[in-house]
Amino acid sequence: MTQRPYIIVNVAQSLNGYISGKAGRRVVISSPEDMVRVHELRSEVDAILIGSGTVIADDPRLLVDQNVVQSAIPPVRVILDRSMRAKPSSRVFDSSARTIVYTGGNRVDSRKCEIRTRDDQGLQIHNILQELHDDGIGKLLVEGGKTVITQFIEERAIDEFYLYIGDVIIEEGGLKLFTPGFEIRNIIKTVRPFGMGVLISLDPYHLQRLWKTQVKDT
Ligand SMILES: NC(=O)c1ccc[n+]([C@@H]2O[C@H](COP(=O)([O-])OP(=O)(O)OC[C@H]3O[C@@H](n4cnc5c(N)ncnc54)[C@H](OP(=O)(O)O)[C@@H]3O)[C@@H](O)[C@H]2O)c1
Repeated sequence: MTQRPYIIVNVAQSLNGYISGKAGRRVVISSPEDMVRVHELRSEVDAILIGSGTVIADDPRLLVDQNVVQSAIPPVRVILDRSMRAKPSSRVFDSSARTIVYTGGNRVDSRKCEIRTRDDQGLQIHNILQELHDDGIGKLLVEGGKTVITQFIEERAIDEFYLYIGDVIIEEGGLKLFTPGFEIRNIIKTVRPFGMGVLISLDPYHLQRLWKTQVKDT
């Protein structure tokens, strides 16, 4: 049986359901209060994982803000980048934290990270998670984007799921994680006001079951 880290997914969406702007345009959805929560969450995990689409669109550093939490060892940064699309100059490849890239390509360049070249089988989420578990990653935070989160939902590899609804409305044409008609109200565990937005915790078990139905129906 596959062993895996404990997995937390965190995603922010606009009032009208978008997690990104049109053509991947980066938009700030989280309120300052929510950013503090995200940095606290980061400080509690062993690793943070994102896909190359998020590296390209947002260029995050994926570090813990030391003004929020004084943490000695930053979480490992894990990047899924099948075809090495993320630029070596991306901020996630600075040397501030250990960084692992899972890829299908074997380009050698200047990025400061550990490149793990795997075949299609090796890039399946359950195999990556088994490896991370074997590396001592006990808790993993998944910060997106849509393609990556979808794989975690389909793999049924989520223990906690946080959805922050920010006080912004984004132009049509961006990415939505949940499609119209998705019966999200049936899987909400808790809802609480947070800054100028709302923090929702979803039941991961029922999310994964409902997701399957949604995919089947479309
Ligand atoms: N609101 C939020 O909370 C939030 C959070 C994060 C991101 N975002 C937004 O989401 C958008 C990005 O989402 P996205 O769906 O386009 O991209 P993504 O999920 O960040 O990354 C997808 C890419 O990652 C690679 N990948 C995925 N699974 C892999 C695997 N198992 N092994 C190896 N590589 C794998 C693939 O690269 P290849 O194409 O090379 O195959 C794939 O195209 C951005 O616009 C960003 O702003 C929003």
